[in-house]
Amino acid sequence: MSPQFGDYQFEIYLDGLRGVTPTQPMDFATLEERARAALSPSVWSYVAGGAGDEHTQRANVRAFERYGLVPRMMVGATQRDMSVDLFGMRLASPLFMAPVGVIGLCAQDGHGDLATARAAARTGVPMVASTLTVDPMEDVAAEFGDTPGFFQLYTPTDRALAESLVKRAEAAGYKGIVVTLDTWVTGWRPRDLATSNFPQLRGHCLANYTSDPRFQEIAASTDPMDLVSSWVGLFGNPLTWDDLPWLRSLTDLPLILKGICHPEDVRRAKDGGVDGIYCSNHGGRQANGGLPALAALPGVVEAADGLPVLFDSGVRSGADVVKALALGATAVGVGRPYAYGLAVGGVDGLVHTLRSLLAEADLIMAVDGYPTLADLTPEALTTV
Ligand SMILES: Cc1cc2nc3c(=O)[nH]c(=O)nc-3n(C[C@H](O)[C@H](O)[C@H](O)COP(=O)(O)O)c2cc1C
Repeated sequence: MSPQFGDYQFEIYLDGLRGVTPTQPMDFATLEERARAALSPSVWSYVAGGAGDEHTQRANVRAFERYGLVPRMMVGATQRDMSVDLFGMRLASPLFMAPVGVIGLCAQDGHGDLATARAAARTGVPMVASTLTVDPMEDVAAEFGDTPGFFQLYTPTDRALAESLVKRAEAAGYKGIVVTLDTWVTGWRPRDLATSNFPQLRGHCLANYTSDPRFQEIAASTDPMDLVSSWVGLFGNPLTWDDLPWLRSLTDLPLILKGICHPEDVRRAKDGGVDGIYCSNHGGRQANGGLPALAALPGVVEAADGLPVLFDSGVRSGADVVKALALGATAVGVGRPYAYGLAVGGVDGLVHTLRSLLAEADLIMAVDGYPTLADLTPEALTTV
């Protein structure tokens, strides 16, 4: 039987009978406020901030308000099934943790990548581990338990280094490679610019590079300044579609392209033999172009024509998860909220954030009469 994620509320109410009330925030606004207090100003600005005046970032969140789930009665949705098939794996739910470079710095002990992997192990919610981590990908994967994990690749300009990172991910047991396309150059981020704050340039979160034999060959020396300047020279590869056959040739693992918002790009990706499309605008951190990622999702799903579509950008609640699923997402990624959960309460806080999202989604499916993901179709939504 599928887990009934909504039962989390019974744990909380029963604890209350013993006089124990939750120490973790129960709503996003409180979570955000407490994360701000828990993080250093520079990490807070990096995580919470986005591109330009952050219009796109806000639009991502507000886009969900345009939709309402239509309640259906007398369905008897006493048992819900949120499980999903993804790349041949059966997952208990369609939720996953989007790649967040610097998640390492969001934990009070500075090892947030390991903490996130431990939360994945405890919840069954997969982690997409960023290329930019405090701990090397092998150490992160060792904490996954039985939960599958994915590796997100920022494709370096050196092809041998790209190959080395992918081979290491395969050897470490990652179940798919997510190639992020929208970050070969950093977007204009006023919050960070105002304090000249860019964590990687200060040497943070480069463990996957410094632990890599190919990177060690290229780097001029092990002096921290040399390591950072080698990294700068290698980081951003402005890929074109001509590079897709090479990317595809790197691995037999599922290959997923992240940052796709246009149906034509979906078709090109499909033609190039990818296994999944990841519709996202990087949470509005990269370009303040104005289009909420959710608005792009239906067109992406249609063009994907059956290929799995992962989605993120603006997900703040279980209601948002349900709406993205109804618009056709196969799996839904949470970003900033889990970074905040980790900042506020460590692994327990992160687990609480994920369980809360799942509980709310599950209970909405129960109350509104949509017991399975197959029931969540675009017809279940109305625009408001
Ligand atoms: C602090 C931070 C760092 C991020 N780092 C990465 C990264 O290393 N690789 C990547 O593909 N996406 C990265 N993202 C984007 C997320 O994967 C995801 O697309 C985004 O967080 C979704 O927006 P939301 O958090 O507002 O919902 C990052 C996002 C944040 C907030």
